[in-house]
Amino acid sequence: MQLISSPASPFVRKVRVVLLETGQEGGDVEQIDVSTTPLAPAAEVTAANPPLSKIPPALIRPDGPTLYDSRVVTRFLDARAGGHLYPSDRIWEVLTLEATADALLDAAVLMVYEGRCRPEDKQDKGWLDAQWSKIEGALDALNERWMSHLSGPLDMGQIAVACALGYLDFRHEDREWRKGGRDALDDWFAVFAQRDAMQATKPVG
Ligand code: BEZ
Repeated sequence: MQLISSPASPFVRKVRVVLLETGQEGGDVEQIDVSTTPLAPAAEVTAANPPLSKIPPALIRPDGPTLYDSRVVTRFLDARAGGHLYPSDRIWEVLTLEATADALLDAAVLMVYEGRCRPEDKQDKGWLDAQWSKIEGALDALNERWMSHLSGPLDMGQIAVACALGYLDFRHEDREWRKGGRDALDDWFAVFAQRDAMQATKPVG
């Protein structure tokens, strides 16, 4: 199988962390790194995800349709490794947590592309601030309502949240997401970020 990847993508990072945490790294999933943008999708991205040409990840399988987006790929890879990251007894919590982290990431990535794809004088500060407000809403929800879940046994919700916070540190450090009393979330992330799978997938570029 081939994982269409983009080294700095936090959505790809989720998949790479799953490969490591489930013991599948170095197995039959070959990582293909592409350089792509929403304005000029790489040929590999268009070929793997023809309806949307969306940013990676996509997983090309020899015996079935290509899978996308990250939530489908992570669930597929976890299922073939025994299915521990989406436990059935708390599946709705895990899925909601993963959806929260992914929505945070959608806003964070859109902010990056606004900066990259438009000249500075055409960038919409009000729109950028509105995206950041969504991110702050998600951070507050995590800090106020999800800490007991985050502290439980490893699951996909935790991995998604950690990749989202890692991306904020990587691309939006100046916004200082920890400010405003998010100490519980900050403390949790400081520990989670030390996991081997998180250290091995730190974003570069
Ligand atoms: C980034 O460079 O921040 C990025 C790259 C690919 C997908 C999303 C974000």
